[in-house]
Amino acid sequence: MSDSIKISRRGFLKVFGGATLGMGVSCLTGYGYVFYVEPHWLSVERLDVPIQGLPRACEGFKIVCLSDFHLHPYTQIDFIEKVVAASNELSPDIVCLLGDYVFEGADSIYELAPALAGLESTHGVFAVLGNHDLWTDAAVVRSGLESVGIRVLVNDSVLLRIGDDDLILAGLDDGWSGEPNLSLALEDSPQGAPVILMLHEPDFADQYARDGRVCLQLSGHTHGGQVRIPGIGGPFRPEYGRKYDDGLVEIGGMWLYTTRGVGVIGPPARFNCRPEITEITLQSIPAKLGLAME
Ligand SMILES: [Fe+2]
Repeated sequence: MSDSIKISRRGFLKVFGGATLGMGVSCLTGYGYVFYVEPHWLSVERLDVPIQGLPRACEGFKIVCLSDFHLHPYTQIDFIEKVVAASNELSPDIVCLLGDYVFEGADSIYELAPALAGLESTHGVFAVLGNHDLWTDAAVVRSGLESVGIRVLVNDSVLLRIGDDDLILAGLDDGWSGEPNLSLALEDSPQGAPVILMLHEPDFADQYARDGRVCLQLSGHTHGGQVRIPGIGGPFRPEYGRKYDDGLVEIGGMWLYTTRGVGVIGPPARFNCRPEITEITLQSIPAKLGLAME
């Protein structure tokens, strides 16, 4: 009787010890994955966005979006260089930088901007600022970007001449801490050309959808939540990124795309939410859809 109890105890200790070891290994593996693997596992998201009334010459126009670099302390410059190389492989027509270049100090822009200077595109690289850029030093971040030839749009727009047609790219001041003004951004723009809007925070999209002048808003800010629970989504959503925290949605005839961004802030983990380069290709609405709507 006593021997059988001893054997049972040994057996129990073996099973218990094995389970504890297994759980320990699983925890370490999980910790390693979310902190050291996924934050560096770049994903290229490709999507077509149909735009009603898109001029013929803009059909197939390719936009690459990059956002939320947050260089230092968690995101390092070698990862940004990898992102730049991956963007160049996509041969974009324009590159849109959607804000939050720095995190703890604006001086990081002096290391980041030379890396971003390597971005290639047919019609240029354009940028808006994000809340962290304003919270550190917007003037420093802006001048750092402009010093390498990146056009920073703060309540401003550019007219892109694509073949014989026009496309307007507008950029607003940060929605959280700045003073975004779409009318000011578009005051010198011609009527009738499609307007693509860059604005760091996505949740202002309801306002610009009601306005009616914008066909596509491009935003970042949320990092997708950094952690996304399957079937539920991101439980950690920042102010002005709680409603539209990830991906493509149509709001009252306007499209909004929210990218998960490139970098991280603390805790520097990602799960089910890989860092993202976005390639958006503009398409005119198919003829059969137009017929169906008549
Ligand atoms: Fe942000």
